[in-house]
Amino acid sequence: MVPAFYNDLALTETEAWALLARGAVDRKSPYHLMQLASLAQDTLGDAEPRLRTVVLRGVARAERRLRFHTDVRSPKVAELAACPRVQALFYDPGHKIQLRLKATAAPASETVRAEAWEKTGRLGRVCYAVTAAPSAPQPGPAAAFADEADPAVFQPMILTVTALDWLYLAGDGHRRAAFTYGPAGDLTAASWLVP
Ligand SMILES: Cc1cc2nc3c(=O)[nH]c(=O)nc-3n(C[C@H](O)[C@H](O)[C@H](O)COP(=O)(O)O)c2cc1C
Repeated sequence: MVPAFYNDLALTETEAWALLARGAVDRKSPYHLMQLASLAQDTLGDAEPRLRTVVLRGVARAERRLRFHTDVRSPKVAELAACPRVQALFYDPGHKIQLRLKATAAPASETVRAEAWEKTGRLGRVCYAVTAAPSAPQPGPAAAFADEADPAVFQPMILTVTALDWLYLAGDGHRRAAFTYGPAGDLTAASWLVP
């Protein structure tokens, strides 16, 4: 039995966003972690890809936006300010679905920042108690931590998705679809692609 979305573009798009929304609230979901790629410059000034894992913390389905949290001192924040174009990648081995999203990254508003900090538990806050900037060299293996986390270093980032590439591997034939979005999250195009 193929799923209802198998041959249906609109249902495929709905399924993709339902999976992402689940990923933000279910730490066991394969969509809870995303691989986030950005562009930076190497020491010679040439473009260089940068890739890292981040936790998907929030999804605004209507606006087609994703949120992740980071330390404002981490290199990615400055890199994203210089070049906000990113790609996010998810792979769900259980369902054999790959989602590749193009997006524009920006720091969240102060309201969102304050609200997200409020919801961050004690364990989550520990990451933001590290005294030196993430990625700074240190003399030994263990980082130094302050007694209290500093809320000022907590930086939620918003990814406004501009395109979604769906790939579903299936015995009956793979399915691939492309969707594009306007700045408010409105669907501007949907089409099937050769997988
Ligand atoms: C499972 C996992 C989850 C992670 N989640 C986050 C996250 O939500 N935010 C974050 O800034 N770094 C997260 N990291 C660490 C990043 O992958 C990365 O090592 C770090 O943020 C430094 O990235 P940068 O040098 O590109 O700034 C996570 C790493 C792993 C392995």
